[in-house]
Amino acid sequence: MGLYSNHMSGDSLKTFYLETFGCQMNVHDSEKVIGTLVHEGYRQVQTVEQADLILYNTCSIRDKAEQKVFHRLADFKKLQAQGKKFGVLGCVAQQEGEKIFERAPHVSLVCGSASYRNLPQMLAQLDAVDIRDSHPANTARAGAPSTGKARGSGLGTRDSQLVRITGLDDRETDECFETEFTARTNPHRGYITIIEGCDKFCAYCVVPFTRGKERSRTSDSVLAEARQMADLGYTEIQLLGQNVNSYKDPAGKRSFAELLAAVGEVPGIRRVRFTTSHPRDFGRDIVEAIDAVPALCDHVHLPVQSGSDRVLDAMQRLYTRDQYLERIAWMKSAKREISITTDVIVGFPGETEEEFAQTLSLLDEVGYDGVFTFKYSPRPNTPALSLDDAIPDQEKARRLEALMTAQKNIQTSRYKKYIGGTLEAMVEGKNESRGQWIGRTSQNKTLNFTVPQGSLLGIGSYVPVRVIGSFPNSLLGELVV
Ligand code: 5AD
Ligand code: SF4
Repeated sequence: MGLYSNHMSGDSLKTFYLETFGCQMNVHDSEKVIGTLVHEGYRQVQTVEQADLILYNTCSIRDKAEQKVFHRLADFKKLQAQGKKFGVLGCVAQQEGEKIFERAPHVSLVCGSASYRNLPQMLAQLDAVDIRDSHPANTARAGAPSTGKARGSGLGTRDSQLVRITGLDDRETDECFETEFTARTNPHRGYITIIEGCDKFCAYCVVPFTRGKERSRTSDSVLAEARQMADLGYTEIQLLGQNVNSYKDPAGKRSFAELLAAVGEVPGIRRVRFTTSHPRDFGRDIVEAIDAVPALCDHVHLPVQSGSDRVLDAMQRLYTRDQYLERIAWMKSAKREISITTDVIVGFPGETEEEFAQTLSLLDEVGYDGVFTFKYSPRPNTPALSLDDAIPDQEKARRLEALMTAQKNIQTSRYKKYIGGTLEAMVEGKNESRGQWIGRTSQNKTLNFTVPQGSLLGIGSYVPVRVIGSFPNSLLGELVV
């Protein structure tokens, strides 16, 4: 992992440690938060012990993810005595809000993703307080709200634990977190957010409550960022959003498919990916764009969640199994073979054995190259909370296992068919112990391969690899020389 600092400023800088949980959206948000902190005069460090400021960018998609941050906060609470400050960012911050201060009083900053634009002001407030020095003047300074939405509530108290700065009020914003200071961690492949928030309100999902309302960036600004990345040597771009298909250019210039095609035509860009798609907004024009522009990767992640119409309706997904399969048929009629992956939730309230069997049959019918499977986890605020007929955890676990076994068999036979063919791999690294290089195909498959003794490959380069073996989750090959 790269550690970021402003090289001009030396070792005297304030230091921060940031740990990220959750999805790619969070990973990319963290890159922007790191860039912002560095611009504000901080230096990133690798351990909690080295840091003045400890930040967690959190995920609340399922209960397990949410609990992680509270464990971390408990583990490191004692470090507050050394004057270290703690901040909680992201989805748990937005969801739990000021309750975090009750549960973990050593936290001084709670900020949801829709408020990251105001981070510089919040950091300035935080900076004005010395946790070790409980002189009233210091804490009072934290309490004096500066500009923006950041709020401090440590007014005039000697209890330094009451330094409480929040960024929680921006979920209705129309603005995206655009910054020129993104600290990307990989020099070859980078994310660009095109749309933030979500207006879909699927019955199980917390994201519309944690990430706020849907808002798109202009396609011009996305393209400018893509060109800038190409100039810096990036060759792969991944367009990000909770639901990229409902992208709406505020300037009205380009549809999502047109934006996708335009990014794929930026000179120097060899691969473009996008995630996540929602079947409801997934148009045929996306498949046509993939057909027309070679740089668009032949992979689509299209979460289905369930194969049962009754469950899809209860989930408020607003499509039927047949409508979903229609989109799959568009992809299967594309010129290139498009690899399809999905997400499935098992044990949604009231899901019967028969309904679960419909999900299993859908896996057979589609032939996915990868399935992310989740046990339904009740989340705060979501409509599904009020549904009866919770499925016992043991039964959810059984269905999860059955689904994973079925999918493993499907992948075992699907991956076999690549044996004998040649695929282009982007070199990601080397597994020294196995003597193999690690590559990724345009279809997003891992392709581990050997090279003739003595050959050295550049990370981020593209090489042809002949496939000689397959596993359920990866391919094995040898470099074509
Ligand atoms: N319980 C279980 N899985 C969930 N997901 C979203 N919310 C929940 C929940 N409450 C899954 C969905 C989504 C993926 C990112 O996480 O499958 O597509
Ligand atoms: Fe988790 Fe969803 Fe938040 Fe990403 S957006 S961190 S998946 S809750």
